[in-house]
Amino acid sequence: MLASLLGGAGIIATVACNDQAAFEAPSQRDPSPASDHMRLAALRRAVEANGFVRAKELAIPVDSRARDVGKLIFASPLMSINGNISCQSCHLDEFGSTDGLPVAVGVGAEGIGATRLASGGQIVPRNVLPFWGRGSKGFDTFFWDGKVGVDRGQLVSQFGTDAPSNDPFVVAVHLPSVELREMVDDTPQVEATLVDESVNSANLLQSKLAQRFAQDPVIGPRLAKAFGTGTDALTFNQVATSLGAFIRDEFKIRPTKLEHFVFDSGPLTKSELAGGILFYGRGKCVACHGGPYFSDMQFHAVAFPQMAFGKNGFGIDYGRYNVTFDPEDRFKFRTPPLFNVSKTAPYSHSGSVATIHDAIVAHFDPLRLMDARKMTVRQRADIYARLGPASREPLPSPLTDEEIGDLVSFLTTLNF
Ligand code: HEC
Ligand code: HEC
Repeated sequence: MLASLLGGAGIIATVACNDQAAFEAPSQRDPSPASDHMRLAALRRAVEANGFVRAKELAIPVDSRARDVGKLIFASPLMSINGNISCQSCHLDEFGSTDGLPVAVGVGAEGIGATRLASGGQIVPRNVLPFWGRGSKGFDTFFWDGKVGVDRGQLVSQFGTDAPSNDPFVVAVHLPSVELREMVDDTPQVEATLVDESVNSANLLQSKLAQRFAQDPVIGPRLAKAFGTGTDALTFNQVATSLGAFIRDEFKIRPTKLEHFVFDSGPLTKSELAGGILFYGRGKCVACHGGPYFSDMQFHAVAFPQMAFGKNGFGIDYGRYNVTFDPEDRFKFRTPPLFNVSKTAPYSHSGSVATIHDAIVAHFDPLRLMDARKMTVRQRADIYARLGPASREPLPSPLTDEEIGDLVSFLTTLNF
């Protein structure tokens, strides 16, 4: 039923919602403790050499008053112009700060999980991104296509030279409330305001939202106190700054089994060790998933199935190209960070694969996840177009199912 809702008839990777919100660790091929000291030491060195640091080195302290009111704003439907959706509608604790769905369902949707998908809300044609580490030290590239980021020291966003803040994370937090279908209805009245999708229309809508928060009997006075101003002087930038403070603090990176292993001589199982050696070695994962967040914060093409929806319509998503208009960037997406990755199924920008196992397969054998004869001509044309860019990436050579299993075990050491 869900597969047909998504129009992904040819996509045989089990298109599914993550209905079991509670995360269960996958069973390991060999859960006995690893004792090969040479390999353990080699892995420790590789992890450190590739930019991994203790969690506490990444956090940026936030103002606690702004954070506390940010928490209320995060859960408040006042953020959507028609009052029926909040940040928390799509970024839920039980799905590791995502929604458990392949693609997000915005304005008009009800409930969570499969119920939300079937509720008739408007589709936002990308998989929800989780919040872990967002806005912490060095994490300043946002969204699947990096539409907010920093280029040679300059902040880049749709706001152009009128960015509401010089903190890229606060700029990113400004966007959902003016994103059509995500939090804004595309009914005629609202669309008339936002139709030109200009900075002016965004400012207009956001000053209305700021007024609402200022008038709210609980949020208004707290916001005013946090910023040392009167409620009548509150701005949307202050609303977004407190929302940012909450997300930054609540979802900061915390100590993991990997941190314990690297810096405190903690244990790993044999499968986790084997997976780690592959991650930094023959699997070539670290070519892109390196650095303190397991992402190079760059853009690469991996030929994940796209299914029916895409940012560019008709099952096509050009990814980074939508931001740079450079043909070389077609089909590239920001390398996803991997903390808590086992809690945020389904995977990829299109949400088209249900398991981490299949997400890894997509890197070297994407056609295994598709049934070409059941795809439409258009879907096949899209896949031909994406195989070219993917073939020019430093992607891994084929891995066996056992090796993939070990990689999945290794990735659970990044959970907290
Ligand atoms: C309708 C569902 C939905 C709602 C509501 C929603 N988001 Fe999101 N969020 C998404 C999706 C989908 C993405 C990925 C979009 C993309 O990259 O194109 C995302 C991405 C993000 C990102 C980027 C994370 C990263 O890794 O770069 C931030 C920050 C964010 N959302 C903040 C918020 C805030 C703050 C709110 C409330 C004001 C909010 N979101 C409301 C669906 C939603
Ligand atoms: C050439 C760069 C590159 C290499 C090498 C690479 N990846 Fe990826 N990986 C990506 C990109 C880019 C995506 C997202 C693509 C998309 O959504 O279209 C991704 C997606 C993923 C995802 C899904 C994450 C999510 O949140 O949706 C997992 C898991 C993953 N990679 C693990 C691995 C593992 C394990 C390896 C090594 C076997 C590896 N990757 C090698 C670039 C790379």
